[in-house]
Amino acid sequence: MAAIKFITHDGEEHKVEAEPGSTVMEAAVRAMVPGIEAECGGACACATCHVYVESSWREAVGGPSPMEEDMLDFAYEVGEGSRLSCQIKVTDALDGLTVKVPERQA
Ligand code: FES
Repeated sequence: MAAIKFITHDGEEHKVEAEPGSTVMEAAVRAMVPGIEAECGGACACATCHVYVESSWREAVGGPSPMEEDMLDFAYEVGEGSRLSCQIKVTDALDGLTVKVPERQA
């Protein structure tokens, strides 16, 4: 299991245990983390699972695929570390990952 910390826009922290092989979005939805809507269910087709990966984790998480990059164009206030959380696969190496949830989704 990997512990993932979500920090909501108002600074609330949610620690979630995520199964390797699942996605960061699935972990957030299961734990009902506010602000992750995930309307398309993880198909990289809605941009409502947008998160900001904390700077110290960006290398481990990696960057978006070209398809994800296209979809990020529809996300709200894309910035450094922006990723669609349904496209981040959980691995043991991501134990401790911290992401911020934007003020609102697309
Ligand atoms: Fe729709 Fe991630 S859940 S793009």
